[in-house]
Amino acid sequence: MVNHLSNKSLFITSLLLNSVFCTFLVPVSSTLQRFHHHTNNNGSLRFLVIGDWGRKGWYNQSQVAVQMGIIADRLNIDFVVSTGDNFYNDGLTGVQDPAFDESFKYVYAAPSLQKQWYTVLGNHDYRGDVEAQLDPMLRKRDSRWRCLRSFIVNTDIAELFFVDTTPFVEMYFDDPKDHKYDWRGILPREVYLANLLKDLRSALSESKAKWKIVVGHHGIRTTGHHCDTPELVTHLLPVLEEHHVDFYMNGHDHCLEHVSCQNSKIRFLTSGAGSKAWLEANKPQDEKCGVKFFHHGQGFMSMKLTKNNARFVFYDVFGKPLHRWRTSLKKLHTSM
Ligand SMILES: *[C@@H]1O[C@H](CO)[C@@H](O)[C@H](O)[C@H]1NC(C)=O
Ligand SMILES: *[C@@H]1O[C@H](CO)[C@@H](O)[C@H](O)[C@H]1NC(C)=O
Repeated sequence: MVNHLSNKSLFITSLLLNSVFCTFLVPVSSTLQRFHHHTNNNGSLRFLVIGDWGRKGWYNQSQVAVQMGIIADRLNIDFVVSTGDNFYNDGLTGVQDPAFDESFKYVYAAPSLQKQWYTVLGNHDYRGDVEAQLDPMLRKRDSRWRCLRSFIVNTDIAELFFVDTTPFVEMYFDDPKDHKYDWRGILPREVYLANLLKDLRSALSESKAKWKIVVGHHGIRTTGHHCDTPELVTHLLPVLEEHHVDFYMNGHDHCLEHVSCQNSKIRFLTSGAGSKAWLEANKPQDEKCGVKFFHHGQGFMSMKLTKNNARFVFYDVFGKPLHRWRTSLKKLHTSM
């Protein structure tokens, strides 16, 4: 009885809070920040994707970085995408944290990697001072750094939608174990997520880009050690399906992986092998999904897009291409 009453009053309080916050939050957060990125290469877009990396060079992070430099030079990349978990174990302590130099600036030092880095946050980043990673001060320390919670990068032929996936995961709120998460700017969570999905839906529906790519930290379909993220399967995947997204790219699982599912046109690409790796894989949870490629050691991915064709390659710690895949816009949209 007591329990019941307190639940009820909690519910009413949260309703009141929600309505108060909604009034203020909805109008200001209804559009995602947009960046336009002109491509270097005559109508083709080229970039690298790396995730789960910041360990001060350890666990082969430096070796991967050297190979990224070589491939980036060969491809003349436009930018780098980071799928999050930028700084281990617990994000940054503040804007002056030396880990920013030790795990980012000095590690990815190749001239070919001196391009814009578009970065999302991972769950480990949320265990530190999240606002430090979002702070424009960091761009003074290294102008490559561009990290926001959710945002859009518009290029001439592709649009990339970066989505803050950590707040979707219930476990971090309900059962955080010994970890402390920095939820400033996220609460009340239901409002934050509803706004994010609404903004993403409207941005995707307005997009005229040939290629639509969504980037998040957590996997939707993956056989890596973390498995599918059920909250994203329920809430994010239907939005991506509805708006004909071509690729979903994530980290979180410390591996390289290419998954495709019979009932989906989306290619699920995991690039989370920037440093510590070698964890065992699971079986696909959805029997309609199949693994085209899986590597549980370190490495990274490159993506090259032209108006009609996409080509992605996964490389290992030695820069050796392990898996190449080519597809055309037409094929992807008729392969159902
Ligand atoms: C750019 O594209 C045009 C037309 O396809 C081609 O003739 C030219 O060689 C390309 N330039 C470079 C630098 O790739
Ligand atoms: C670094 O890469 C090499 C080659 O794949 C591997 O043998 C070694 O175990 C890796 N080191 C770590 C710490 O993962």
